[in-house]
Amino acid sequence: MDGPVCGIVGYTGEGQALPFLLDGLNRLEYRGYDSAGVAVLDGERVALEKNAGRVDALKKILAEDPPRGSVGIGHTRWATHGPATDVNAHPHWGCDQDFLVVHNGIIENHRALKAQLVARGHRFRSQTDTEVVAHLIEERYRTDLLEAVRQAALELEGAFALAVASPRAPGEIVGVRGTSPLLVGLGQGETYLASDVPAFLDRTRTALRIEDGELVRLTPDGAQVFTFAGAGVLRSAFQVNWNAEQAEKAGHPHFMHKEIYEEPKALRDTLSGRLVAGRVALDEGGLDDAAWQAVRSVHLVACGTAFHAALVGKALLETWAAIPVDGDVASEFRYRTPHLGPGDLCIAVSQSGETADTLAALRAARSQGAQTLAVTNVVGSSIEREADRVLHTWAGPEVAVASTKAYTTQVLVLTMLALSAAQARSTLDEAQIAATVEALARVPALAQEVLDLAGESMDEVARRIARSHDAFFIGRGLDYAVAMEGQLKLKEISYVHAEALAAGELKHGTLALIEEGTPVVAMLTQRALLHKSLSNLAEVRARGGWILGITSWPEEVGDACDRVFALPEAPDAVAPVLAALPLQLLAYHTAVRRGTDVDKPRNLAKSVTVE
Ligand code: M6R
Repeated sequence: MDGPVCGIVGYTGEGQALPFLLDGLNRLEYRGYDSAGVAVLDGERVALEKNAGRVDALKKILAEDPPRGSVGIGHTRWATHGPATDVNAHPHWGCDQDFLVVHNGIIENHRALKAQLVARGHRFRSQTDTEVVAHLIEERYRTDLLEAVRQAALELEGAFALAVASPRAPGEIVGVRGTSPLLVGLGQGETYLASDVPAFLDRTRTALRIEDGELVRLTPDGAQVFTFAGAGVLRSAFQVNWNAEQAEKAGHPHFMHKEIYEEPKALRDTLSGRLVAGRVALDEGGLDDAAWQAVRSVHLVACGTAFHAALVGKALLETWAAIPVDGDVASEFRYRTPHLGPGDLCIAVSQSGETADTLAALRAARSQGAQTLAVTNVVGSSIEREADRVLHTWAGPEVAVASTKAYTTQVLVLTMLALSAAQARSTLDEAQIAATVEALARVPALAQEVLDLAGESMDEVARRIARSHDAFFIGRGLDYAVAMEGQLKLKEISYVHAEALAAGELKHGTLALIEEGTPVVAMLTQRALLHKSLSNLAEVRARGGWILGITSWPEEVGDACDRVFALPEAPDAVAPVLAALPLQLLAYHTAVRRGTDVDKPRNLAKSVTVE
């Protein structure tokens, strides 16, 4: 399938399509860059080029003999289910090259549609969900491209935006918006289609919004909008007042800020199709019941933020599935002497799927005969390719070096994984499973609630932390795992020294560093450990420490803290995702106040492919 986030562009006009398509795709590469492709139409002639890799590679290929034509569509892909190969790159077409399609989103019923189309004699070549759309249009076409696309759109389920071109409809592009973004740019004798405004901002600032459930016919003179039912829609144009850089960040000041506010969507996409009838269904890459029953021990390996997510997974697997679980920083695991065999499962967690230490740890586990499972955000990554199984986090591309939406979606996948292990091993009763599934389904909405409140309040706390040399993050159980992520986020982008401690460990040394005004962030979301943690806060208070409490029980902890951020009430097991959000915003606002390079902190890289 093709991703919740890909970039699509279209052009029809008096000029040449190719320069717009390639520049537009370059500007949409922040949405994905696993493959790129264009189709340029010159009357009846179709020139098509598509390859795995980035837009610049496509540009080089096309530079030798650039196709001429005044109509074209293009795509830059963030691969999801089908790997990033030439054949899976867009555009796609039906049995003949008569109907060319680029797509952003997921066609959820593509398997059923494909089976029907194959039974009717259609031949498929790619592994994408997109190809069904081209075959459907091919079947529905009589004389009008828009009508054929409209009929096809009515059969699609899921989230999608499409651009369609055909030599049968010279001078036309048809755009479709299911629920994925799509805009039209109106130029002088040229009309543009794009997933996002940066694609056409250097050509025009006059744009038309396409709403969910609408189609648009583009010609060089303008655009006509229709509903899926076929009724015409009167839509006024608007003026875009962002510059190109602002538009790429959708108006957010930094990618990190944008990615934090994308978390409710990323969480929703990650849950999609995985909670079914009160149970977790991870059949696409998870272990089946028999495999879980045979697992003797689990070893989670990861680095940095992914390791902190792994610690949440470790705690939940131990508690729910009653399996011995180890969690190791990958660079340590690969050099120690774990004794693994076929009954053991190694889970490698990695946003990029390319982190050298995590890959090496996975290989070490394999070489001892362990089974392997990758939890990754990047389809077709090295870690995915080398693991026996894979579960994806559907966070979409993460551009900021500081990981945010990748972390919360990793935590969510590992929580579902632990629950599916418990289902398979019958270690939780049905009522507990159903209650947890119900709580998981509410996570995206709860995350939105937290974000709506946390921005302003964390900015105020950041005023204090930005002036401090040190900050301490404490918690017990799952709260300790989240505290570790909170301290990493703060130090990597704001350069304020931060340390995370199991709250009970403070008195064994670090308490010596607490003095008047030292900021301490206390995570208080685990009911069973709440009173133990409150005693540790009293130790901090007695030394003059300044305490921010992040808690699901503001009334109970209010007196123990100088400031409280209240989380919505939720079961302990889903609290890590929610509690991470104010911590990410605290780090973000502290960094902004200190004037650091938020998206590209010094000395760091997004993907660490060296040991
Ligand atoms: O791509 P990975 O998840 O394997 O990356 C692991 C770490 O390098 C990464 O999480 C790093 O710690 C982040 N920059 C933290 O925000």
